Amino acid sequence: MPEQYRTLQGFRDILPDEQPYWRYFEKIAAEVAETYGYRRIETPTLEETAVFRKTSGEGTDVVEHEMYSFDDRADKEGRRQNIALRPEGTASVVRAYLEHGMFKLPQPVKLYYMSVPIFRHDKPQAGRYREHHQFGCEVLGEGDPAIDAEMIGLLHQVYTRSGLQRLRVHINSIGDQNCRPQYIQKLKEYYRPLLEDCCEDCQVRFVKNPLRLLDCKMPQDQPKIAAAPRITDNLCEPCREHFEAVQRFLEMYQVPYIVDKLIVRGLDYYTRTVFEVISEDNKLALNGGGRYDGLAEILGGQPTPGIGFGLGVERVIQEMKRRGIEPPTEEPTRAFVVYFGKEPKFKDAAIQVCAQLRHAGIKAEMSYGNRSNKAQMKQANNSGAVRAIIIGEDELAGGFVSVKNLQAEGMDTASKQAQVKREELIDYLCQHG
Ligand code: HAM
Repeated sequence: MPEQYRTLQGFRDILPDEQPYWRYFEKIAAEVAETYGYRRIETPTLEETAVFRKTSGEGTDVVEHEMYSFDDRADKEGRRQNIALRPEGTASVVRAYLEHGMFKLPQPVKLYYMSVPIFRHDKPQAGRYREHHQFGCEVLGEGDPAIDAEMIGLLHQVYTRSGLQRLRVHINSIGDQNCRPQYIQKLKEYYRPLLEDCCEDCQVRFVKNPLRLLDCKMPQDQPKIAAAPRITDNLCEPCREHFEAVQRFLEMYQVPYIVDKLIVRGLDYYTRTVFEVISEDNKLALNGGGRYDGLAEILGGQPTPGIGFGLGVERVIQEMKRRGIEPPTEEPTRAFVVYFGKEPKFKDAAIQVCAQLRHAGIKAEMSYGNRSNKAQMKQANNSGAVRAIIIGEDELAGGFVSVKNLQAEGMDTASKQAQVKREELIDYLCQHG
């Protein structure tokens, strides 16, 4: 027996039955983003590894454990580049902003990406895949807190229009290069005497990424987190003012939010405002985002403020299904063409009619494989099509087709079936549906 292949662990097929959810969500998200003045961008799936390593941060899970990076094939000179499958969307967008001189455009530049594949060698489990897709928005070139609130407002509008009401946005500020180092010092001083009693991961976090100590989910560490100093009590004046302004503007956007002092985010590039929306069901984040005012500089640009979010489309669709939200149904097949005759001329005519319908934008199907008349009519009925277009001896001789209404139960045969000239078929279907 030849081997049966399956998708790789953590990867999944998005089958036709699920596609309406994706198209529905994508349409809403794109419409809302464009209403707020965002323009679509697409960046390559592969980038130089350094783009992500430098920005997301060496000590982060994403870079250290999860990034798919490898040496490319050698070029003509025998050099090999280390490249990576995109483990997140922001660094590529900022790279593109710098590479294409978008800083010369009127600022801010507002960009969005739709369902881009993101790769992380995560431990596969419900809602956690090795390839997932993100809808994301990024704004570059503006540090005004009004932008932070506007972006969270946009996100909230995407959720409510997708039917996901009553989601609460968790926001926090993690300060900037002025106040965060002092806070981290304070946090380490607090943790140092407790370290022996902390989980193994926290011992590593203490050295590599102390802010992430607050993100630990182990029960034994929760009391330590609860009593830890909070960054919001240690912000410098400009960061404090920025955070207060974000909250004031959020009220204007009528976004329900809570200040969640434990949000720290898993990537190193964040400054000031950070935010997440968390599913009440499985406690997984539906989206994550925040300000990254130092990122452009890390990639060789001028100091450029930036802010953005990434939303996990799989997780949002899962949440829609959990709440019983149905996407609009797909357009049904309008016409199913059948041919009653074994000679090739019958099938040829069916192909021509089918092509005629499709060229006019009418969703049409036909029977293949020279089945019996009865089997073809059964197929037409099962297809969900509104009408069967029948081509037999009389139809071919007379240059017409018989159009049968498949959804007219109880009607007499004469009103169920009409003879329509081939050249008038499109007009007839447009008039009669
Ligand atoms: P992130 O929080 O790492 O942020 O990912 C954003 C969202 O992607 C998460 O909230 C979650 O919904 C989804 N997600 C992440 N990992 C997985 C996974 N393994 N399986 C399924 N869904 C997942 C970022 O990636 C940042 N680039 C967001 C951002 C944009 N910040 C500023 N601009």
